[in-house]
Amino acid sequence: MQIVILKDAASVAEYGANIFIEQVNKKADSVLGLATGSTPVALYQELIKANQSGQVSFAESISFNLDEYLGLDGSHQQSYRYFMNEQLFNHIDIKQENTHVPPGDAQNPVDACLEYESAMANKGGVDVQLLGIGRNGHIGFNEPSSGLRSRTRVKTLTKETIDDNARFFSEGEYQPHLSITMGIGTILEAKKIVLLATGENKADAVRDMVEGPLAAICPASALQLHQDAVIVIDEAAASKLAHGEFYKHIESENQKLQSYLAELASQAK
Ligand code: F6R
Repeated sequence: MQIVILKDAASVAEYGANIFIEQVNKKADSVLGLATGSTPVALYQELIKANQSGQVSFAESISFNLDEYLGLDGSHQQSYRYFMNEQLFNHIDIKQENTHVPPGDAQNPVDACLEYESAMANKGGVDVQLLGIGRNGHIGFNEPSSGLRSRTRVKTLTKETIDDNARFFSEGEYQPHLSITMGIGTILEAKKIVLLATGENKADAVRDMVEGPLAAICPASALQLHQDAVIVIDEAAASKLAHGEFYKHIESENQKLQSYLAELASQAK
């Protein structure tokens, strides 16, 4: 895991956005794994700015979202399809038909999960996957105790997640307690993973993900197995790490190595 600790949420968003911009500029038809929730909103704003200023084009890009509420169709204001249209897709040049969110209104949700996996595989798999993390360590809607090799499937939400997300629903409004989510095994197949976390309320989950044992009780700890997972966090989210200073030291050494390699490459030209 590469642990990048930055001063605030704005720097986290900018750092994360640059990874996506570089990826798409390198490979126009990149397959992007996307997430919803509060954390990625600032990153999406950076992507919108970059797209509208001509720094990057998503015209050839393909996207697959992590998860969707089961029981909501895409026109429902609390659905993740609606969220993605509002927060990103409607403001950039991605083709709507190239964007995929699990179908929350599928008549047969079990078949829909298999079809979602096939659609991703047919596009060659995810190049870069964006993740947030729940206070309970979930990634996607893989709640604690999810199988570390699980695939896209119907998943029951914990009370904690339902309570955390209640802020998006108005009083008395139906709030789903089931979801379709990519599995942990599915997520781990992405070629690169970028997880963002900001704020003190994520500090326990970040500590367990980075320094805790690899365990289904903290689904995000599965990222310890990935060969290219970048954890981008602000100081508040990093505040419970036992080895924060060491991670900062590694990063500064890493940057020196990158500059050296860039210098070597420019000399070779
Ligand atoms: C969203 C998702 C969730 C969120 C997590 C954090 O697609 O899969 O795992 O990333 O619940 O949510 P926020 O960013 O709202 O704290």
